[in-house]
Amino acid sequence: MAKKKKVKEKPEGLPALFLERLKMIIPEAHWPLIEESFHRKAFISFRLQKEGINPLEVISKLKALNIHATSVDWMPEAFVIPEAELKLLQETEYYLQGQIYVQNLSSMIVPMILNPMPGERILDMTAAPGSKSTQIAKMLHGEGHLYANEKIRNRFFKLKANLESQGYQNVTVSMQTGEIYGRFHPHFFDRVLLDAPCSSEGRFLADNPKTYLYWKPLKIKEMVSKQRNLIKSAIKTLRPGGDNGLFNLYLCS
Ligand SMILES: C[S@@+](CC[C@H](N)C(=O)[O-])C[C@H]1O[C@@H](n2cnc3c(N)ncnc32)[C@H](O)[C@@H]1O
Repeated sequence: MAKKKKVKEKPEGLPALFLERLKMIIPEAHWPLIEESFHRKAFISFRLQKEGINPLEVISKLKALNIHATSVDWMPEAFVIPEAELKLLQETEYYLQGQIYVQNLSSMIVPMILNPMPGERILDMTAAPGSKSTQIAKMLHGEGHLYANEKIRNRFFKLKANLESQGYQNVTVSMQTGEIYGRFHPHFFDRVLLDAPCSSEGRFLADNPKTYLYWKPLKIKEMVSKQRNLIKSAIKTLRPGGDNGLFNLYLCS
């Protein structure tokens, strides 16, 4: 008799254990905002990836294609568009030729804080699909070197394709486990970005069970241990004596 395929049941609403845990971590006063965030979809944002594109020209050309881009005042070269216009944006030459990069605004902040300087040796330790790596590569203006690393094979190829399509000469892509850097390349990089793998709770949407179907407390435990090892490796691989005597290590998650 053929075996019945196990199908994961659709849960009703966010997992109770997840909410309980969150309530222990986040003060009650912030709850209305937190609850709202589980129902709100992020708007679409993109930034100019190629050097020398005129932002005003982009806005006007997109407008002619019925795409309404608004610039972001605190993030140079970033724009937002209504979610319904994403498909149209993905059909434009700008998008198809890699001249723009669709990326969350919150993600764009990270390389800004990392603040890579031309001439420096930068490691993006867990880099696929490469939104932050492409942004960092642009910020280096061809001077210095970016090492973009990713452990998972298919994600590595996506990262590689993304970076290669930009034609940078000063970027090396590797498929290593991030944990090895501290041991094999101690005190080597001027700055390290560790955008560590996480439980993706920040992406949960109450109305979309796919976003939290596979959540379980064990996953958090696994992630904690993994992130701890990656952080140790990232610290060891940093050259001592960064800006203001602080390590130039940026951690997200
Ligand atoms: C949060 S994502 C990185 C997103 C990326 N920074 C970006 O902005 O496009 C984390 C990545 O780390 C990879 N990863 C997981 N464990 C890893 C490890 N031990 N070493 C290197 N990469 C790892 C995952 O496959 C995933 O692609």
